[in-house]
Amino acid sequence: MPDVTFSTPLLHKNVTVYAVAGDTHTILAVAEANKIPIPHDCKDGECGSCLIEVTPLDDKTMGATLTEKEKAQLKSMGKITAEEIARAVVDDIPPKYRLACQYVVRDQDILVKFTGEPGGA
Ligand code: FES
Repeated sequence: MPDVTFSTPLLHKNVTVYAVAGDTHTILAVAEANKIPIPHDCKDGECGSCLIEVTPLDDKTMGATLTEKEKAQLKSMGKITAEEIARAVVDDIPPKYRLACQYVVRDQDILVKFTGEPGGA
């Protein structure tokens, strides 16, 4: 069971929740289920308001599956470079910034940071 730890100035302290491994829930869905206020709007990878910063907390290499929408949106926000996209596709090295509505929880402990401002991770 992966631990997902949320860190934001909106909470008094970090909150760690247990996500179900192998489930297809997004970080945003896990956050909503646990009343973690990640800003969001479209829930479809098109507005960028659910921007988060993700840090792996274990040594597992879980790959970096980015949807085409996520890549395009992060690129338009200046939050991912062509080099980072190539690293994600070729070497499975995940980029730092992700969209919570597109990132599917995997069997890996992660730290999720966000500011509380839409698109402001
Ligand atoms: Fe719009 Fe995630 S909620 S991109």
